[in-house]
Amino acid sequence: MSDILILNGRLIDPSNQIDAPRDLLLRNGRVVAIETPGALGSVEVAQTIDASGLIVAPGLVDIHVHLREPGQTYKETIATGTAAAAAGGYTSVVAMPNTLPVNDTVAKLEWMLDAQRGSLVKLFAMPAATVGSMGEKLTDFEALRQAGAVGFTDDGKPILEDEMMHAALIAAARAEVPVSQHAEDTRLTGGCSMNAGSMAFRLGLRGMPVEAEARIVERDIQLLRDIERTEGLRPHLHVQHVSTARAIHAIRLAKREDLHVTCEIAPHHFALNEEAVGDYDTHTKMNPPLRSELDRIKMIEALLDGTADCIATDHAPHAAFEKKQEFERAPNGITGLETALGLALRVLHRENSLPLPRIVDLMSTAPARIVSLAGRGTLGPDHFADIVIFDAGTEWTFTAEASRSKSRNTPFDGSPMLGQVRYTICEGKIVYQA
Ligand code: DOR
Repeated sequence: MSDILILNGRLIDPSNQIDAPRDLLLRNGRVVAIETPGALGSVEVAQTIDASGLIVAPGLVDIHVHLREPGQTYKETIATGTAAAAAGGYTSVVAMPNTLPVNDTVAKLEWMLDAQRGSLVKLFAMPAATVGSMGEKLTDFEALRQAGAVGFTDDGKPILEDEMMHAALIAAARAEVPVSQHAEDTRLTGGCSMNAGSMAFRLGLRGMPVEAEARIVERDIQLLRDIERTEGLRPHLHVQHVSTARAIHAIRLAKREDLHVTCEIAPHHFALNEEAVGDYDTHTKMNPPLRSELDRIKMIEALLDGTADCIATDHAPHAAFEKKQEFERAPNGITGLETALGLALRVLHRENSLPLPRIVDLMSTAPARIVSLAGRGTLGPDHFADIVIFDAGTEWTFTAEASRSKSRNTPFDGSPMLGQVRYTICEGKIVYQA
C-alpha cells in the first residue's frame, strides 16, 4: 500500500474537536501523523494530494443501506452499491438483511462480508433479528456477533410482537449491539402507499398515519424502561429513518430520561415533503413515506438540536421496470448514497446554518459510534485511513444517469446539490476521485 500525504486541507474531526488547517500522512492503511501545515517537513510519499480550500474529514459512515446481494443483483450488487458509496464520500456502509435469502445465519453473513463480493469500501452488516425476518424466533445473536454483526434488525419489517422485541432487546444488550427497528405498526398501514393527509386524499391513495410510526417507537421505549428496571441491562434501541414529529418527540423525551435510544434521519425526509409525490411519481415512494411540511421541519429541528443522532440514507435501489408501475404497485425505496452529502450541505448547512463539524458528526462520527466501529469516524494517529475530501461550496446538479449504482430510482435527478466529493480514501486506498 502506498503512502499518501494530504496537504493544506481544513481538517474537521468532531471526535477530537479539531476544525483547523492540518497535513495528514497516511501509511499502510492507517493515519500515522496529523500536523499543522508544514510541520511534517519533506517526507517521501507515493502521492501528494493538495487539499487547499477543501475539507478533510473522517470518511462518511452509512448505517442503513440495501445492497441487494444475494438474490436481487439486477437491482444492485455489493460491488456497484459500494462504488456508489465511494462516490458519495462513504468509507463504511452497513448492509441490511432483507436480501434473498434473508441474512440470518453466520454462513450468509460471512458470504456477504467475503472480499470476493468486491466491496469497494468497508462493508459491515446487520443480520436479521428473527429467522427469515418472520418475527417468530430470534436468530443466534451471539454467534452472529462473533462473526461480525454490528446490530440486529428485521429491516423493512418491524418486530411487532411485544415479547419478541423484548427478547431481541435483551439478546442484543448481552451482545452489546443495538436492535435497529423499522418503526411501523403494519396493522395500520396495510394497502397504504404514501403519507396520510390531504395529498393522499387528492390522489385517491390510502395513506399511512403518523401513529403507525409513533406507536412502535413509544412501545419500544417502554420496553427499554421495563428491561432496565427488571433485568438490570441497558439495551440499545436504534430507530431507523424517523419521519414524524410525534416519533421524534417520543425519542427526545426518552433521551431526557437517559434511556439508550439513538435514531437516524434519511436525507429525503429533511429535503422533501409529501407534495413531491406530485403526479404519482414512483421515485418519491418509500417507506416510511415523505411526510407533511411540518414533519420535515421537525426532522430538521431534531438534526439541529441533537435529538437525531445521525443521517442514514436507506439507499434502496430498484430497477426501472419495477418503478414504472402504478404508484400503489411500485416498490418502496430510493437510491441515496450519492446525494446525501450534497443534500445535507444544501438543506442543513446552507439553508439552516448547521455548522460543518455537525454535518461531519451526523454523517461519520456519530453513526460509527452507534454501531461501535472502532477506529472509524475519527482521525487520530493509528486510526484507519478512512477519509473524505470535499469542497463545501460548489453548486452542482445531480444526474441519475451519472450514478454508480445499478439503479436510477431517485427523486433527486436534476436537483441542486451543494459541495462535491473530490476524494474518498478507504484504509489508505483512493476508492473515488472526482
Ligand atoms: O423504502 C424502503 N425500501 N423502505 C424499506 O423499509 C425497505 C426498503 C427496501 O428494501 O427497498
